[in-house]
Amino acid sequence: MSMEWNKIFGAVLLAGLIAMLAGFASKVLVHSKPLEKSVYVIATPEGAAPAADKGAAPAGPAPIAPLLVAASPENGEKVAKACAACHSFNKGGANKVGPNLYGIVGGPKGHIQGFSYSDALLKTEGAWTYDELNKFLYDPKGYAPGTKMTYAGLKKDDDRAALIAYLRSLADSPQPLPQ
Ligand code: HEC
Repeated sequence: MSMEWNKIFGAVLLAGLIAMLAGFASKVLVHSKPLEKSVYVIATPEGAAPAADKGAAPAGPAPIAPLLVAASPENGEKVAKACAACHSFNKGGANKVGPNLYGIVGGPKGHIQGFSYSDALLKTEGAWTYDELNKFLYDPKGYAPGTKMTYAGLKKDDDRAALIAYLRSLADSPQPLPQ
């Protein structure tokens, strides 16, 4: 009889021991520590515009320099048909509603002597750099509120770049392209 009890007692003891060891072993093996920082870092570019800005109206024309390098003056000549009602492009050409545009790139604002420009245009001052022409042709009235040039503006970046490339070609020695 006591032999039976010993066996039973022994078995229970062994089972308990195994359970204890298993628990201990599992703790050692699957030891987890809280992470010091999150593993998935979502990359956000420095200075990226906040999401809320998406869908807002574009603030102005695209920078002209990169577009100009690839622009085609031949296409620009076609785009310039939209200007021909008011402007001539040939050297010494007559002024129409607007001034002749030969040599406009790099020239001063109001580059034709004797043409009666608006004060609105003249007070923008400086020279017709690629950048200034880009802004003016994108939105004449926004650039020079009160200008006599009643033209809505050329919003398509490629067309504007081609047109400016064409205007550049209208010179005895065209201005260098931007780097
Ligand atoms: C409805 C007539 C009209 C159209 C169309 C027009 N312009 Fe003009 N443009 C004018 C007038 C008028 C002025 C003088 C503006 C002022 O004094 O405010 C002018 C001025 C300019 C000037 C400044 C000239 C200078 O000597 O400073 C540029 C550059 C110019 N226009 C380019 C263009 C181009 C390029 C187009 C075609 C995309 C165009 N314009 C379409 C009437 C027009």
